[in-house]
Amino acid sequence: MAEEGVVVQDDGAAQETAVSTLAGEKRPREEIRREDYPSKNAYKKALKDRRRLETKRVRQAERKKEKALQKEQKKEERLKEKETLTPEELEEKKKLRLEFIADRRSKQEERQRKLKEASESSTICVIDLEFGDLMTESERKSLAHQLMYCYSSNLKSEKPCRILLSGLDGSIAESVHALSGFDNWPVGKEKGSYLDALSGRKEDLVYLSADSENVVREFDPSKVYIIGGLVDRNRHKGVCQRKAEGQGIATARLPIQDHVKLQTSAVLTVNQVFDIFLKFRESKDWGKTLKSVIPSRKLSSK
Ligand SMILES: C[S@@+](CC[C@H](N)C(=O)[O-])C[C@H]1O[C@@H](n2cnc3c(N)ncnc32)[C@H](O)[C@@H]1O
Repeated sequence: MAEEGVVVQDDGAAQETAVSTLAGEKRPREEIRREDYPSKNAYKKALKDRRRLETKRVRQAERKKEKALQKEQKKEERLKEKETLTPEELEEKKKLRLEFIADRRSKQEERQRKLKEASESSTICVIDLEFGDLMTESERKSLAHQLMYCYSSNLKSEKPCRILLSGLDGSIAESVHALSGFDNWPVGKEKGSYLDALSGRKEDLVYLSADSENVVREFDPSKVYIIGGLVDRNRHKGVCQRKAEGQGIATARLPIQDHVKLQTSAVLTVNQVFDIFLKFRESKDWGKTLKSVIPSRKLSSK
């Protein structure tokens, strides 16, 4: 089918007419010539891409216009309101506005401080993303969201850690990079394994796994804890435990059964394990930490 504004002739050449904008105007097309493209399809694609760009530009311009209009309306409303206020009310309004600005600035500063603290923390928590191929696309998306929760919890934490995402490659990298703002997260991002990223620290690595015989009593600050980046409803039973054993890395499970009773299995999600890691380091209280992180529907009332 021919592009809007383009007449494709019998010999395959296209005669350019004009582009319809969203505003309904007709604009001449910049020259995209058939002879510059190896095939009719490539040529049509170029036209299509440019039309998409033009539509985007028109929409952007319309949004900008709309915003300017709204700003102007608000300004007028404020001026009208001002005329009806007493000098005391005006003074009070000004005070509130200044307080709001100061509060917003201090929140921004606090956020910057947290970001810096987290990226410089000496405690590293690895999230191992080498399991992309064991998950479906929707599981990978779900994992990407769990990583976002981890990142956000870390920023809010009293004792943030340095997050290292290892194995950030292939299909999982695609899902993770699709997260809004991900490229600006100040976290470690490694395509390769944690074994390479942390070479020389193999002795310090502890892979967290619900299948381990060892139990975490405290998080040792000299160790690096690894969480398996997997959303699988435990379809791949014991995969992280076997991986760690194969690599000669220590493993440990959280002391869940010692402190709470669960209705379901003790295999938690990545962000729940990460939150437990953060919260226990703050409170040193397993009962309190586990109850605050594990959803109540999972906890048994007995
Ligand atoms: C959804 S689980 C993955 C389950 C997977 N089938 C496996 O073999 O571990 C995601 C990760 O959270 C961590 N995890 C979950 N429950 C845990 C527990 N009770 N103790 C220690 N780590 C746990 C592990 O690092 C695990 O790889």
